[in-house]
Amino acid sequence: MSPGSPILVLDSGLGGLTVAKAIREVLPHDDILYFGDTARLPYGSKTAATVTTFIRQIISYLRPHDPKHVVIACNTATALALPAIRSEFPDLSISGVIEPGAKAAVAAAGAKEVPTIGIIATEATVRSKAYERAIHRRRHHARLLLRPTPLIVPIIEEGRGTDDPLVKLALRQYLEPLIERKIDVLVLGCTHYPILKNLIQKIVGAKVKVIDSGQQCAEDVARRLRSAGLLRGDSVGGGSIRCFVTDDSPRFKVLASRFIGHEIDSPKWVSPDELYRVALPPQPDLRKAI
Ligand code: DGL
Repeated sequence: MSPGSPILVLDSGLGGLTVAKAIREVLPHDDILYFGDTARLPYGSKTAATVTTFIRQIISYLRPHDPKHVVIACNTATALALPAIRSEFPDLSISGVIEPGAKAAVAAAGAKEVPTIGIIATEATVRSKAYERAIHRRRHHARLLLRPTPLIVPIIEEGRGTDDPLVKLALRQYLEPLIERKIDVLVLGCTHYPILKNLIQKIVGAKVKVIDSGQQCAEDVARRLRSAGLLRGDSVGGGSIRCFVTDDSPRFKVLASRFIGHEIDSPKWVSPDELYRVALPPQPDLRKAI
């Protein structure tokens, strides 16, 4: 691997593009390979074993591109699969989004002795308690209020925007109990949610600091690459973004362009069958046994 090797960014669908966008802002000369596992989304209602299998398959599929870093740009997959995936791919540099999100939340809570931090996330992320661990390690006395918000991912993947009454209704329903309990900080604990950040900020009010881990995550990736001597210089011009998806819906290209902020090329379709094949454990050589 070299400074010119790509960065892999993975998610169940469009959400990780909010992280890819932040990475492009911090590292504009790097090439990004983005994988959206659109055929098997949502991850947020699945078990750790299933999500770990999916992430293993995606990394095995993209590994021939010789990535210099892998970002699991999905809170659910970070919460359920990151330690297992790191130990399965010991020679790859792999990071997630929960540690950067927790760090940003604690910084936003400031000096208040017992800050109240709300976290909205998928059911699997909430169940994993990964945010509790990551925040309490940094601020033992923070009061945490976690709320699963399972409707938001499908609503976003459907392409509904901030003007949509259904989006407003769902967000109000989910956020009202947190507002009543006077949160100081709200963590967007799913990489899909930052696309609705302005509306979320409007609903919770200006006093609540709304945290999207994308920026912190991108800075964390830059730090890792710098210390490994893998930063790409500016002599190469602007980096590219190439997308891979497991379900080739025409909607992906349109919505992905909206997430990234500019037109992207059509994504390459990868069938889930192919993913199962590339990640098969080594088969015994039966001929030798005969
Ligand atoms: N973007 C993923 C996350 O951060 C969405 C999970 C899902 O597919 O449910 O958790």
